[in-house]
Amino acid sequence: MDKRKLTALLCMLALLAALPGPGGVEQAGGWTEVAVDGPPLVALTFDDGPRSSTTGPLLDGLALREAPATFFLVGSRIRGNEDLVRRMAAEGHQVGIHTYDHVELKGLTRSGFDLQVGKTRALLTSLLGEGEYWLRPPYGILDEQARSWCGGPLILWSVDPEDWKDEDVDRVVAAVTEHVSDGDIILMHDLFPSSVDAALRVVDALLGKGYCFATVEQLLAQRGVAPEAGASYRRAAKN
Ligand code: NI
Repeated sequence: MDKRKLTALLCMLALLAALPGPGGVEQAGGWTEVAVDGPPLVALTFDDGPRSSTTGPLLDGLALREAPATFFLVGSRIRGNEDLVRRMAAEGHQVGIHTYDHVELKGLTRSGFDLQVGKTRALLTSLLGEGEYWLRPPYGILDEQARSWCGGPLILWSVDPEDWKDEDVDRVVAAVTEHVSDGDIILMHDLFPSSVDAALRVVDALLGKGYCFATVEQLLAQRGVAPEAGASYRRAAKN
């Protein structure tokens, strides 16, 4: 067994074996980090896809490394990429919603919200079956009205390498690996070849440092955070 396979196996065992443990523990004064048994765990997330030329190679690379991730999809980009979406779910990735047209979830009417979120949820349900499809608001922006309508947890992020900015693979890899810690949710975009290269290098680098990868849902569960509808999560703790 090569080292990559061994690492992936150890991560899988750690995910299976660890009971939902402490991590983000709610106390009177807020959320407190406490020691966690097992390897450090992080969630890689990808927004704005799917895009056939980049999402496919990303899925290939994640499969090779046995690293699960979370994809927040733009509904209008699903048509023609249905096989990629089915593949995400079949390969153990979490699939979520990033609105239908990549719009701010702010100032929308109820029908406007339904056209952005409900329509994408219906599309995912028709492709993947009934399930919880968590929401990532574009730009991390939303108002209290949208929060009350979303019907599930809102997933933000704690590490943002701004991979869209200059598509500089070395800089993006460093921006993640130099700032990441246990419980983080990493924001990337599967729209650019440079992001795919950077993401896979991040996976290799962090596996080499003993990190394991999880979907956002697995990460929260492992750290004992119970997701609530309408609450936002930047990392494995409620914000
Ligand atoms: Ni986006």
